[in-house]
Order: sequence, then C-alpha cells, then structure tokens
Amino acid sequence: MKILTVGGGGREHAAVEALYRSGAEIYSVMKNFNPGIAKRSEKYLLCSEKDCEKICAFAAENGVRYAFIGPEAPLEAGLVDELEKAGVKCASPSKAAARIETSKTFMRELVKKYGIKGNLDFAHFDNAADAEKYLGTIDHEIVVKPVGLTGGKGVKVQGEHLLSFEDTMEYINEIFNYNIGGAGVILEERAVGEEFTQMVFVDGKRIVPMPLVQDHKRAYEGDVGPNTGGMGSYTDGNHLLPFVTENERKEAVSIIQDIVDAMAEEGCPYRGTMYGQFMLTVSGPKIIEINARFGDPEAMNVLTLLETGFADICRMMADGNLEGEIKFAKKATVCKYVVPKGYGVKSEPGHRIDVDEESVKKCGAAVYYANVDMKDGVLVTGTSRSVGVVGVADTIEEAESNCEKALKFVKCDAVFVRHDIGTRALVRKRVDHMNSLRSA
Ligand code: AMP
Ligand code: GLY
Repeated sequence: MKILTVGGGGREHAAVEALYRSGAEIYSVMKNFNPGIAKRSEKYLLCSEKDCEKICAFAAENGVRYAFIGPEAPLEAGLVDELEKAGVKCASPSKAAARIETSKTFMRELVKKYGIKGNLDFAHFDNAADAEKYLGTIDHEIVVKPVGLTGGKGVKVQGEHLLSFEDTMEYINEIFNYNIGGAGVILEERAVGEEFTQMVFVDGKRIVPMPLVQDHKRAYEGDVGPNTGGMGSYTDGNHLLPFVTENERKEAVSIIQDIVDAMAEEGCPYRGTMYGQFMLTVSGPKIIEINARFGDPEAMNVLTLLETGFADICRMMADGNLEGEIKFAKKATVCKYVVPKGYGVKSEPGHRIDVDEESVKKCGAAVYYANVDMKDGVLVTGTSRSVGVVGVADTIEEAESNCEKALKFVKCDAVFVRHDIGTRALVRKRVDHMNSLRSA
C-alpha cells in the first residue's frame, strides 16, 4: 500500500515508523528535514505542509491512493478536501470536520446543541470591551483562549498565569491587538482536576479507543511555566492511568462517540484520529479540547505500542469501514521531549544535535526526530521540540528509567528536558491530587 504522509514532527515520525512496520510504501511531505521520516520514505518532498497544489501533484506523480495528515494546519488549509478530489483517500478529517479543533466555538456549540456531557461554561467575544463586561458578571475562575489555532500555546489560566483582573484584561487586549489565533476570544470555566488524553480511531461512525495518555503542557519541572505543545507523556500497562477508573474512561469514550455521532448528523462526518483532552473532575471528565489528529507527544506513546498494522487502520478509516480488534502492547511508556533552550518563551534554535539510535534501542527505548533540520550537512535544532525519547517497560517506573538511560544518547548543548515526567514522585502527586479532590 502506497501512502502519503504529511508532517515532519515527532508525531509524524512515530506514524511513519508504524506505517513502515506494517509494510506500507511511504511518500512523505515535510517542511523540515526529519531524518527518521526520510529514512523510511520511498521519496520525500520538502515544502510547506499547507501547499495543497504541490502535495496533490506529488501524490499523483507517485500513484499514491491513501494519505495520513499529521498536523492541524494542513487540515485547516483544506488539504484533505483537495486530495480526495484528486482521488486520494484520507485517514484524516475534511476541513469542515476539522473545525472540531480549528474552531473552539464550533466544538463548544456542537456539544451544547446535542446535550453531550462534559461541556464547560463558555462565552465567545469579538471585542475586549464585551469580554470585560462579562467578567464582571461571573463568579468563577476562567481560562482565556484565542478562538483559532495557536500551536497549543495560547491558553492562559486564571489562578495560574493570570493572577488578577488586570492580568486577565491585559491578555485579552493582547489577543485582540496582536490578532492571536485570528477570530476572537473564548472565556471558559476553569475545570479543576487532572488531565488525560483519550485518542480514538474513527471511520465516520465507529470509534476504537487507544490507551489513555497523560501529557505535560507546562514548560518546566513541577508543572510551572508557560503552556507548550507538550513536554512529555506517559501511559500505563493496563491502558488506564493511575488516577482514572475504568468507568471514568468509559464516560470519556462515550462523550467522543456522541461527538462523532453529532458530526455525522450535522453533515460533516469525521474520519481519522480524534483526540479528546479531558480534565477529570469530581463530577466526571470535562472536555478541555477536541483535536482533529493525534496528539504530539501522545502519538509517540501509543504508536510505539501499536501491534495491529497502522497501514490497515489508515486504509479502514479512509474507506469508512473500521472493523476488527485493534491491539496495543500491554506495556507502560514514558516519553520525554528534548526541546531547544528557551522553548515556550523564545527558542534558541540552530544547535547541532546528535542521536545514537542504536544505543537508545539497547536501553529499551525508541527515539523519534521532531523539529530538526539539516544545515551544512549537520543535524540542528529548530524552534520547536527537537527529539522525543520513549522508554517502554512493564511499569511506568521502569519505562521512566529506560527513557532516562536513553536520553544520555541524545547530545546537544542548548536543550532541556522535563526530567520529572513519569517519575514515581510526579505520578504520586497526580494520584494524591485526585484523591484529595474526591474526598473533599
Ligand atoms: P489547550 O490548548 O486547550 O489544550 O489548553 C492548554 C492547557 O490549558 C490545558 O492542557 C489545560 O492545562 C489548561 N486548560 C485549558 N482549558 C482549561 C479549562 N477549561 N480549565 C482548566 N484548565 C484548562
Ligand atoms: N499534546 C497536545 C496536543 O497535541 O495538542
């Protein structure tokens, strides 16, 4: 099976690796040179991931019939619609279906219209004065979100990043003055609890859940600092998380099923991977966001464990007939991203980075290249996350230890890592936090 992949990050490298394992012939498009993706590709094209014309021509030239799109930007640019017009079936959503991620208003309104569980109070504003008036009428903490895409970095939380009314208004004004995220602002009720990610495969109707993952969005150890695209993530051997019960997980899966049903009902059926980010609160899982793709880093955790052929899964999603069981190894994983110095505030890119892939493997880990590039024959860091290392073992603790051993074989003098991810202490803190909320 020939398949086109779009994207040059860690998520896409993990997807390409899974496709390669299942015997696919890969034609990849990426904006940066990702050596892991390049190595597995029959051919690759370096160009903008939103350049629909070039990408469609590349697919046609190579007789490709199926496609997998990693990042959200090409989905928003309508790449899937263009590819499908050209006869390439996509394991990713159309532009209309991708609104579940690209417009936070669309998502909240849909969930509200269909009475789906897990919604949070929210209000949408297209000017700062109305937002200010609204702030005077509510008595709960809120989260400020630009409506459009911001690469996961646009959200600020009252009580964490915004410590006063003045801070909140300053950020709202900044969003309008600098047109951050394009289309206004959402003020959303702040949910208190522990976050988890439930991703599912979708064929338009049926969904198949993947193992639960917990990402770490804050830049620095101890969960402080600015929000990032995600610094690292872990999964547990039983595919739940230590603070999530089977019933809570079922509730999250049923919320996603309801969203998929609602989208079919609305005339924009959803195909591809859907990503549900939830805050587990004392009154159950609340929807933080729904994404139209795999999470990054979460994709690296689950795709490393995937035992069913990913090429077959993509074909079934694209054809609209997902059937049979999808298997993941019953192992724990811990993923830590090596990121450029300054990442989250202002990255310092362009430093040489070396990865000893063989030694990483010997540690019981996998390594995925992300936002790196080739410059004068050497691999250098970009402005976004550089390399993801995933430790695999029977328990989270052992997986964390494997990940740490493997990280020693990624060498660069201008990077940092959140070493606390997946440690016994941090996992314990999550469990204790949830227990204390439950017993209060
Ligand atoms: P997002 O880009 O929507 O994933 O938001 C980034 C981070 O902000 C999330 O991972 C949460 O930690 C936090 N956040 C977003 N929305 C809320 C909310 N309604 N309540 C509490 N925290 C939130
Ligand atoms: N890791 C969060 C995301 O991919 O949106």
